[in-house]
Amino acid sequence: MSANVWRKLIPVVVPLLLASAPAAAETHFAAARDDMIRTIEAIARGVSGQSGAIDAAVLAAMREVPRHELVPADVRDRAYVDSPLSIGFGQTISQPYIVALMTSLAKPGSDYVVLEVGTGSGYQAAVLSRLVAQVYSIEIVEPLASRAAERLKALGYDNVTVRHGDGYQGWPEHAPFDAIVVTAAADHIPAPLVEQLKPGGRMVIPVGASSLAQNLMLVEKDRDGSHTRRTVLPVRFVPLVGGNR
Ligand SMILES: C[S@@+](CC[C@H](N)C(=O)[O-])C[C@H]1O[C@@H](n2cnc3c(N)ncnc32)[C@H](O)[C@@H]1O
Repeated sequence: MSANVWRKLIPVVVPLLLASAPAAAETHFAAARDDMIRTIEAIARGVSGQSGAIDAAVLAAMREVPRHELVPADVRDRAYVDSPLSIGFGQTISQPYIVALMTSLAKPGSDYVVLEVGTGSGYQAAVLSRLVAQVYSIEIVEPLASRAAERLKALGYDNVTVRHGDGYQGWPEHAPFDAIVVTAAADHIPAPLVEQLKPGGRMVIPVGASSLAQNLMLVEKDRDGSHTRRTVLPVRFVPLVGGNR
């Protein structure tokens, strides 16, 4: 082809190539997301009994949420791998299977108001937001709280409110909550969170004094205000920090 023909084609071809690149990336991420869902289903099948079961609505929500838009750019290409990833400040976004499990254990209902402690990247909050009416999420590391709030807003997750603070204390202004999901490990079950749970409500929380000895626990508040707790499975989370214990 002559140089003249190329010169005429460039203004047509280059914009077309530039326009198709984001579409190709989205197709790639959608396929990776489908693989992630298949991996979660396979893990759930391998966990004995009902303790590892994942709700179909939770998987449908996770199939929608663009995890790659919430993680930092340096780990974007690994966004759909079934493992925790660094999000900076010594913190992590949790393994997708564990997000699916915790969300399923919370038994989200469409009219629920849910508290999340440990916003991190905002991914768990985004998944919850597809399943409930309102999510309140607290993050103790200010830059993570700001970044997650900004990303969630940009992606249109309008029923998520993020604030910077110590989630150990819960969020009394919006209590009581139908469910509470704590995504950092406490060495005991925080009394303020149990108090802020509705009768009939459920809290999912990793508990353990060291990172090598943590269990995911399900706390259920009875109608009479008492609560029961059950161990689900061993996990490894970053610690719940903060004061006023
Ligand atoms: C495993 S990461 C959470 C992952 C997050 N849910 C996500 O989807 O990316 C735990 C988060 O809990 C936060 N954290 C630890 N202690 C906290 C506290 N007392 N209050 C609020 N956030 C806390 C950490 O800073 C960290 O971002």
